[in-house]
Amino acid sequence: MCGIVGYVGKEDSAPILIDGLRRLEYRGYDSAGLAVHDGERIQVVRAVGKLRELEKAVGAAPLPGSLGIGHTRWATHGRPSEINAHPHVAGKVAVIHNGIIENHMPLRERLEKGGSEIVSDTDTEIVAHLIDEQLRKGGDLLASVRGALAQVEGAYAIAVTSQDEPDRLVVAKSASPLVLGLGEGENFCGSDIPALLPYTKRVIVLEDGQLAVLTRETVEISTLEGAPVEAEVRTIDWSPMMAEKAGYKHFMLKEIFEQPRAIEDTLRGRLDREHGDITGAELGLADEHVPGIERVYLVACGTSHHAAMAGRYYFESLTGLPTSVELASELRARDPVIGPGDLVIAISQSGETLDTLMAAKLAKEKGARVLAIANVMGSAIPRMADGELYTRAGPEIGVASTKCFTAQLAALLMLAVYLGRRRGRLSPERTAELVEAMARLSHQMRDVLQGTRQLVMNLARRHVDARDVLFLGRGLNFPIALEGALKLKEISYVHAEGYASGEMKHGPIALIDSAVPVVVLVPQDECRDKSMGNLQEAKARGGRIIAIATESDDEVHQLSDDVVEIPAAGSELTPFLTVLPLQLYAYYVADFKGTDVDQPRNLAKTVTVE
Ligand code: F6R
Repeated sequence: MCGIVGYVGKEDSAPILIDGLRRLEYRGYDSAGLAVHDGERIQVVRAVGKLRELEKAVGAAPLPGSLGIGHTRWATHGRPSEINAHPHVAGKVAVIHNGIIENHMPLRERLEKGGSEIVSDTDTEIVAHLIDEQLRKGGDLLASVRGALAQVEGAYAIAVTSQDEPDRLVVAKSASPLVLGLGEGENFCGSDIPALLPYTKRVIVLEDGQLAVLTRETVEISTLEGAPVEAEVRTIDWSPMMAEKAGYKHFMLKEIFEQPRAIEDTLRGRLDREHGDITGAELGLADEHVPGIERVYLVACGTSHHAAMAGRYYFESLTGLPTSVELASELRARDPVIGPGDLVIAISQSGETLDTLMAAKLAKEKGARVLAIANVMGSAIPRMADGELYTRAGPEIGVASTKCFTAQLAALLMLAVYLGRRRGRLSPERTAELVEAMARLSHQMRDVLQGTRQLVMNLARRHVDARDVLFLGRGLNFPIALEGALKLKEISYVHAEGYASGEMKHGPIALIDSAVPVVVLVPQDECRDKSMGNLQEAKARGGRIIAIATESDDEVHQLSDDVVEIPAAGSELTPFLTVLPLQLYAYYVADFKGTDVDQPRNLAKTVTVE
């Protein structure tokens, strides 16, 4: 998730672009850059770090010109560095990009064989070279962008400027957002409305498969195939703060609703639906490592530890490998028996959590292979690891982790399927079935978010004064019960406990009375019938039962006070769906209580102390 802006008008473009990037910095902030056309040539300035570094660089080497493009990066391919920062230049074109080009590897090989000098590790530079290749064949910029995009698979929002066309910006979109802003004698583009709001309230939201040519006076939209498009112009009345959160009240709510996109991006280019398999690309593990793995350790803290607990179910059942889950802080409090033959997977959204970093270092010293699952490219844990698998959730700003959690689940499931297939534990048919189920997941998540929001909000309103809440789950949904309780605790300060459903009768059942909402996860899976027994036990003690269940489960409806329904899905996929109403529940309870949802008391987004 990166931020892009473009400007063509009468003013100096650099300050407008930097201002737009500042409003998009929530989309990424590891490096930034500008390309400005001064009428004769394009000049590029790039800098690693936050936007102020770019501002300093532009201050030292001003960029005159009234047409330009700017980018703030959240690395997906290639670490944060000046060479990997956008814009990328090939021949006479400069390109900025938000998205993921899935077939960048074969395109890179072909271009390099043809003599292109590709200097960065990014997928974006490939697009720049493809456009340059088309320009050399004699087309104009628009035709060349079309010709290049015809070869590309994946997600993109791009903006392109060419030295030979000082008055035109060409932009295009597929699966990544792009908005055009209409001014007087000037036009704009940006990843999101906030970048444009200080300059214009009139916008066009570009659709997938559309290109636009922006000049000072005109905006012309067409399809990739060349058919003209009449687009609707909308007038936006958001305040800049609302716009940054895309109209949501808090970043946390925005991030909850971003999860389908985060899952799509995390799976992008890694699911091989044609062959019903997981591609080894960018998993941090290659086929040659598989035979050497005898045991798996999953190491993490907090929410990432809950993802690890779900990961153990995946690894044990799909790969047959003995798998342990470890709290990073506790692993180092012991003398763990780890060594060669062990694959230690360190899971961390930030990639900087000190406990997880130190545990991963310890494992490496003991001879294990360390694989990092992280969301922040180039962060400390992936840097020290032997392999890295990035979730592509984009920056998570709310302190309570939501979209990174489900992206971690997706990463773990992919890894387990990949290993399970190569270890012969999964048949080709079962592997293909899981791959297809993963490909459907984002649609199901969208349905759950839209379909349950109002009901969950009503439940939260009704139970806002509850002093204690219990969350019960079994099997893969036990870690989800823990996660539901953690979310509620950390943002609403309500006492909540997650339990394995079967464990309740060994003690916690004493807590239940009519003042305690009991959230029971009973989706249709191997554990459902046993969990129903536990639901009944809680009901018999007067607990107010909120069930999270698969749609049309009549028995659950009869026994529960309220039921939040999720669509039918294979057992492995249910945690992605059951966690969504729990996140929404925590969010709305906190919002009704009026707590600081995005920055709850006593917590920090990145914990770099032991
Ligand atoms: C809870 C939460 C924390 C983090 C934990 C680990 O919502 O966000 O529990 O999960 O601090 O952080 P990372 O994943 O960055 O290592």
